[in-house]
Amino acid sequence: MQDIFTVAGKSVFITGASRGIGKAIALAFQKAGARVTGLGSRPESVDWMADSGITPLVGDVADPDFMPGAIEQVIKHHGTIDCLINNAGVNANVPASSTKDETFQHLLDVNVRGLFRACQAYYKARRKEGGVIINVASIAGFIAAPLNTAYSATKGAVLQLTRSLAVEWAGSNFRVNAICPGIIDTDMSARVTGSEGNRAKAEAFIPMKRIGKPEELVGAALFLASEASSYMTGQLIVVDGGVSAQ
Ligand SMILES: NC(=O)c1ccc[n+]([C@@H]2O[C@H](COP(=O)([O-])OP(=O)(O)OC[C@H]3O[C@@H](n4cnc5c(N)ncnc54)[C@H](OP(=O)(O)O)[C@@H]3O)[C@@H](O)[C@H]2O)c1
Repeated sequence: MQDIFTVAGKSVFITGASRGIGKAIALAFQKAGARVTGLGSRPESVDWMADSGITPLVGDVADPDFMPGAIEQVIKHHGTIDCLINNAGVNANVPASSTKDETFQHLLDVNVRGLFRACQAYYKARRKEGGVIINVASIAGFIAAPLNTAYSATKGAVLQLTRSLAVEWAGSNFRVNAICPGIIDTDMSARVTGSEGNRAKAEAFIPMKRIGKPEELVGAALFLASEASSYMTGQLIVVDGGVSAQ
């Protein structure tokens, strides 16, 4: 029987692949036989990729001119992009009352406008064939995230972008889905995981009583990139140890 979960041979472009969740996904797809291109924002953050069989790319997703060229470059190198994974993201742990306008703007530029531009560029490059988009959102997109209000608003926007694009582009053979991680052990969650006291508090709140590992997002990404999810679009998969089920 054909393995419906396989991504072998597929060309996959992952943003924010230099660290954390994106790195775990990039390495797993590479191991599964995909041809992976990984984006980081700085040359030094992607220097490990070539040795791991991943094609490195450097650029700023918030730069309005960057993504169309990047998509073209990946297509030129790998012949196509079967799956785009929009994972690059930034947060800001600040009380709502002292969140600066420029902080909010930066979160919007990276998490929302950068991601939207990547979707647009991918759609334009693949409008004849169709494609698969996976957006990495967050449970903060649909539950309260105190001290992360601006971030949670951007992730809510990612969920709505995902649903609307899925419906708008379904007739062009695109599938657009989202993954919503809970608290995952990466640089981004250092405020929560960095001190023993905060970590213990977070673990007590999580039904599974532990912080997630970046590798625990891999299964959802492989599923959404593969034929196993061929009739699925506009949906979100939550990977949060039960937090949002409470
Ligand atoms: N960790 C969590 O608890 C958690 C929970 C829910 C959702 N998420 C989401 O999961 C995704 C990955 O998070 P993470 O925890 O793995 O974060 P992370 O460890 O902080 O890594 C962030 C990644 O995004 C890249 N990036 C940031 N700004 C960029 C820009 N302007 N242009 C290009 N790349 C940029 C970084 O590249 P450099 O290495 O070059 O800086 C890095 O690869 C994010 O969308 C995040 O919102 C995370």
